[in-house]
Amino acid sequence: MKEVKIESTLYVFNAIEEVPDTIQSLMKQAFSARQKAYAPYSKFSVGAALLLENGEIITGSNQENASYPSGLCAERTAIYYAGAKYPNTKILKMAITAGSQTKSTNSPIPPCGACRQAIAEYEVNQETPIEIYFMGETGKVVKSNSLANLLPLVFDKSVL
Ligand code: THU
Repeated sequence: MKEVKIESTLYVFNAIEEVPDTIQSLMKQAFSARQKAYAPYSKFSVGAALLLENGEIITGSNQENASYPSGLCAERTAIYYAGAKYPNTKILKMAITAGSQTKSTNSPIPPCGACRQAIAEYEVNQETPIEIYFMGETGKVVKSNSLANLLPLVFDKSVL
């Protein structure tokens, strides 16, 4: 038996003002997308903005449903829309912001496991890393150079 250690590297910015200008404006788009979240049940709204290689920005927000599992996260709303509208166009960067209506959210909120798996599908197919930035309503911003850092031991098409 041997021990295997898995390491991931992330970068933490103290505030949105510290990230590059292009990311600040992408994050702004994520903030406005979050305003359009439909989250009457959880009162937790999430916005995501994607920068594609063709320069387009695609946004998404979480969309809930009275039948709870039928709702969809912001990240998947955005990434599936990108895949549907611009198939075979690389996704370069993703900015995510999340916040609750019932408490303040000042720490970075990472994408959930299901969204990581969905993003992985696109990253694996395009063979180019997707840079991911995530934050709460305010405060620190975390950067991952690739989805792979957020989902070690990914399950992908190579095993099928
Ligand atoms: N949510 C997202 O939109 N993205 C995530 O990565 C985690 C959770 C949404 C789903 C649901 O509408 C609400 O946040 C509470 O879970």
